[in-house]
Amino acid sequence: MQIPDIIIAIDGFSATGKSTLAKLIAETFSFVYLDSGALYRGVTLFAQENGFIDPDDTIHEADLKAALDQGLDLHFGADGTYIGDRRIEQEIRTMAVSGQVSPIAAVPFVRAFVDAKLHEAGARGRVVMDGRDIGTAVFPNAQLKIFVTARPEVRAQRRYDELKAKGEQPDLEAVMKNLEERDYIDSHRETNPLRRAEDAFVMDNSDMNLHEEIVWTQGLIQGRFGILE
Ligand code: DC
Repeated sequence: MQIPDIIIAIDGFSATGKSTLAKLIAETFSFVYLDSGALYRGVTLFAQENGFIDPDDTIHEADLKAALDQGLDLHFGADGTYIGDRRIEQEIRTMAVSGQVSPIAAVPFVRAFVDAKLHEAGARGRVVMDGRDIGTAVFPNAQLKIFVTARPEVRAQRRYDELKAKGEQPDLEAVMKNLEERDYIDSHRETNPLRRAEDAFVMDNSDMNLHEEIVWTQGLIQGRFGILE
């Protein structure tokens, strides 16, 4: 199936399987996948390593802003996220980063910094990007928007399994708590909170496997763009 050079925006709460779906779409339709959350995680790691955020989540905003203004070379490389030539893909997926990413992502100048990078990366189209505000704020004109949801216990179990597979020793209760906290902060912050765009299609994938997800998406694309094959 040939689909036009569009932008596909996938938003939703944490651990709903957005990135899995986005990667699958990218693979199936030869799109470029861009993970916007990775950039918020990258800024969080940078803030942690440079003392711009305390363990109690106090953010030293002036210092962080000055450092970002100086130019932080945070970018998508061929095989993941980089700061300069340092690949940070593993570090940004730990519970330590997950625990502080939402407060960092709520800071307006951090959002502006990340948005600029996302616009640059998505400028050429044929991109599938996942996040919290892609369809509402980053690319409000995206030609296809999907809002993904899943039941909380399904999401917690998925994230738990993911961390376990990476060699961490997660605690299911702690994972659940982290998801609840992030959901709350992400959907209640002032700047571009998580919400479903009015023109987004909702997918609840609690009881779907990947094959069903791609068939669902394919049907959506066919209907949306009048593709008959
Ligand atoms: O998708 P993720 O779990 O890797 O995202 C990490 C955090 O980044 C998430 O808790 C909220 C924030 N985020 C955001 O505010 N806006 C986005 N477009 C993507 C992520």
